[in-house]
Formats: sequence, C-alpha cells, structure tokens
Amino acid sequence: MSRKNQTLGEFIIENQAAFKYSSGELSKLINAIRLAAKVVNHEVNKAGLVDILGAAGDTNIQGESQQKLDVLANEKFIHTLANREIVCGIASEEEDDFIQINSADNNHQNKYVVLIDPLDGSSNIDVNVSVGTIFSIYRRVTPIGTPVTLEDFLQPGRKQVAAGYIIYGTSTMLVYTTGHGVNGFTLNPAIGTFYLSHPDMQFPETGKIYSVNEGNYIHFPEGVKQYIKYCQREEEDRPYTSRYIGSLVSDFHRNMIKGGIYIYPKSSANQNGKLRLLYECNPMAFLAEQAGGKASNGFTPILDVQPEELHQRVPFFCGSRKMVEKAEEFMRNHS
Ligand code: AHG
Ligand code: MN
Ligand code: MN
Ligand code: MN
Repeated sequence: MSRKNQTLGEFIIENQAAFKYSSGELSKLINAIRLAAKVVNHEVNKAGLVDILGAAGDTNIQGESQQKLDVLANEKFIHTLANREIVCGIASEEEDDFIQINSADNNHQNKYVVLIDPLDGSSNIDVNVSVGTIFSIYRRVTPIGTPVTLEDFLQPGRKQVAAGYIIYGTSTMLVYTTGHGVNGFTLNPAIGTFYLSHPDMQFPETGKIYSVNEGNYIHFPEGVKQYIKYCQREEEDRPYTSRYIGSLVSDFHRNMIKGGIYIYPKSSANQNGKLRLLYECNPMAFLAEQAGGKASNGFTPILDVQPEELHQRVPFFCGSRKMVEKAEEFMRNHS
C-alpha cells in the first residue's frame, strides 16, 4: 500500500508481520496507546478552558508536586491499558509501585509490561507550552501464568520491544519504534485520525543545537562545563544555538528533526541527574538509536544500564551521534 495518507491503524496492521512478536498483541497494545493518546490530547487541549490547571495538591514518590493533568493522564493511560487483555503490569512515574494487572481470570497469560511518563514537562502546562507522554514496552521475563514481579520492570533498555512518545504541540504527534526504525504520525483533530507524516525519522549526524538547563551550570561536572564552552566557542560551525524548552519530549523531538544534543547531567546537588531511567531515558534512548542517534550517561550507552530500582535517575546525553560522541569525549577527558 502507498504510504501516502496512510493512517496509524493501517500502518500497524501492515507492519504487524515485521514485529518481533507477531501474535498481534503488540499491535493491540500500540492501538490502546493510540486511543489513550487521543483522550489525553483532548484533555490537554482544553487545559486553559476548564478548572483543571494548577497543582493537584499531592506529591509523587519523588517529591515533585503533581499537576492535575499529570494525575488525569496517568489514570487515562492506566485504565486504557488495563482494560485490554495484553498487559500484565504497568509502572508509572506517578505511581509509587508497579501495578499488577489482575489477569487471574485468563491465568496471567498477558505478556507485556508498560512503563510510562504520563505527562512529561508538566511544569509547562500552565504556560501553554508543549508537553508529552513517554512509553516503553517490554516482554515480561517471569513465567507466563504467574503474577508479574519487579524483575519484569527492571530490564535493561536494550530489551525494549517498543517505545515512543506523544507530543501535544502545535500538532499532536505519536512517534514510536518497534525496533524497525522510527515513524511519526500526526493527528488530524477534526476526525481523530493519526496519519503517517514523518516516515523513517532520522537524527541528522550532527547539528547546531544544544539543549541544557544552563541555570545549573555552576553545579555541572567539569566535562559538561567544558562541552558547553566548546558549543559557545567561535570556531568551525560554532557557536551553536541554545534551545531548551524544559519538556524532554519537545526538546528531543526538535533535536531529532533539526539536529542537536540534549543534556541533563548530574550536578553537585543531584548525583544522578533528574531524568528517570525507566520512564524517560530508556524509551528516548531506544528511539534515538533507532533514528541513527545516540544516548548515553556520559560514558556508556543508556540502553546497557542495568536498572536497580523503579524510579532510578540517570544523567542523560542524547541526540545527534557526533554531538553525543563529542560530549562523551569531554566527559572522559575531565573525569
Ligand atoms: P516531568 O514533567 O515528567 O516530571 O519531567 C520533567 C523533566 C523533563 O521533561 C525536562 O526535560 C526536565 O524535567 C526539566 O527539568 P529542569 O526544569 O530541571 O530543567
Ligand atoms: Mn513529574
Ligand atoms: Mn518527564
Ligand atoms: Mn511526568
């Protein structure tokens, strides 16, 4: 079938055979995410209209205040995924513990665990700036027929079978990979259909954008400080342009299209940085590698890090391959 005007639904069916596990379950799972994405998109779009803005008054396990839309997106994704007999467990940035999906009625036959950051960049909601949702999918490692355990969630990112994000931006897009490249779909809000708008997305090999919260400069490791100075130096194709939205999804999306690097390093205040390995870094790293880019903790590929806990944080360097390699060189030389 011609790719012109291809919808996400058609794309999923057509590519099902190419999926690593072609039983159709992963397709159903992507379909469930597509549905939840539309529901959350609807809520995000009307955020300025109704009284769902502002903090919900709760804090999550990581001590961050939860926004109302954080909580709402969390509920929508969990309910949509749990109501289908595909997923055996869900872990979320907004939940203290992983959730076992009670599939006892089908003797725990469900194969997949899903990890989500239901709303990424949520501090941007109040100011009408793009936010996103990030998801990551693994095949369970404990035996089918038993309840899911923590071990099923603590798999290295290399084991992901699919990952992606939804960006609620000027357009709403769903971008995902099942390990066969990265494809982006744009929502036509009038009819609620995602169309394949960005087939086979690729990070430019190098770029001119660096994205880092420079307000924390004083606390950064020497390697990052030196790399930032390198980006700012008048030499060759530099100085680079600094762009930082504060929504990982949006910063990543822009850098993948235009070429750039995103850095959230460790700091003297926070030894592991801020971003979550399981909900943010692993899915973005899988997408980055599938799009010809790179993702590392400054020294080794993110996808090779063995997770030790659900809400683990990790320093994150991600983007165009040559830029990440250059930043790693600075990290090595100054450690
Ligand atoms: P979340 O809204 O899911 O908690 O994630 C926020 C993350 C990420 O999206 C963003 O890049 C980063 O926090 C921004 O942090 P700073 O404000 O410290 O720069
Ligand atoms: Mn948060
Ligand atoms: Mn986030
Ligand atoms: Mn979040």
